[in-house]
Amino acid sequence: MREPLWIFKRRFVDRQLPLALAKAYIYFLLVGLDYLHSDCKTVHTDLKLGNILMSFENENILTNFINRQQPMQYKPESDGEGDRIVYRCHNDLGPLDARDIKEMVPKIVDFGLATRLDRPSSRNGFIGQQLGIYPIQPDYYRAPEVILGCGWDFKADIWNFGVLLWNILGSQELFQQVYDTTGQYDAKAHLAEMIAFLGPPPTALLEKSTSMLRTKWPHPMTNDTGKLCHDAQEFFNGPFFNAEDKFLYHSLIPSRSLEDTTPFLEENDRDSFLSFVRKMLTWLPEERSSARELMEHPFLKLGP
Ligand SMILES: *[C@@H]1O[C@H](CO)[C@@H](O)[C@H](O)[C@H]1NC(C)=O
Repeated sequence: MREPLWIFKRRFVDRQLPLALAKAYIYFLLVGLDYLHSDCKTVHTDLKLGNILMSFENENILTNFINRQQPMQYKPESDGEGDRIVYRCHNDLGPLDARDIKEMVPKIVDFGLATRLDRPSSRNGFIGQQLGIYPIQPDYYRAPEVILGCGWDFKADIWNFGVLLWNILGSQELFQQVYDTTGQYDAKAHLAEMIAFLGPPPTALLEKSTSMLRTKWPHPMTNDTGKLCHDAQEFFNGPFFNAEDKFLYHSLIPSRSLEDTTPFLEENDRDSFLSFVRKMLTWLPEERSSARELMEHPFLKLGP
């Protein structure tokens, strides 16, 4: 693969992908996600621009690059089974060949944290109904059911992908208060921002959280602060809601709304985009569209 999407984006004016191109890429990525979910029964759990790589526009790019690099820089490395040669890593293989840019497609990579949901494993903690229970996802992309300890499935990737659209299409992060002043992940502030965008979470989600929290994790896990935790509430420093479903940190809810977050779109694209993301950013995972359903959304249709 040629380079990650965040480097590719820099090649464009204002570091923005043209909207038609971005829509095509979003469609391709949904095809990939649908394959991962429907055929492979796998949750990626780590979707970010660095894990989307653009393919080469033609075969000459790599050959020419290698020819320019003779001799290739490398170092020997021992990995326990003997020595091997590790070549220097490169992420800039030179200018694009403009004639073939349409051959470049984005692909989802890095399955190091991916989790299969069709068989039990120590990573998902799997509880019989094909739900994972341990914390997953980069902080900024974390789905509400993960923070609240409700158990998660493929739909956690859909939330993640919805948040990622702001990175693909725009240049400003959707969530802006995910970290506290010391740089520590702040789940309560993250939830407060979700409430600003989506309204308060439905009772069904909070009930699920309460009932799941009655069971401790089979294997305790250490959180960012280094504390050994036995459930999601300990891990993310909850509780976040009281027994009457009231959010305990009302003052953290910002006044921004989802409509305020799309300066990168023209008026006529905005409504369609908001309708698209509202199918991904829902409190209840079961109300989120699948990747296949999202492929049909009008936002992705090109032309008038
Ligand atoms: C880790 O867990 C401890 C104990 O529950 C909590 O005090 C701390 O805030 C947690 N760290 C984070 C980053 O949530």
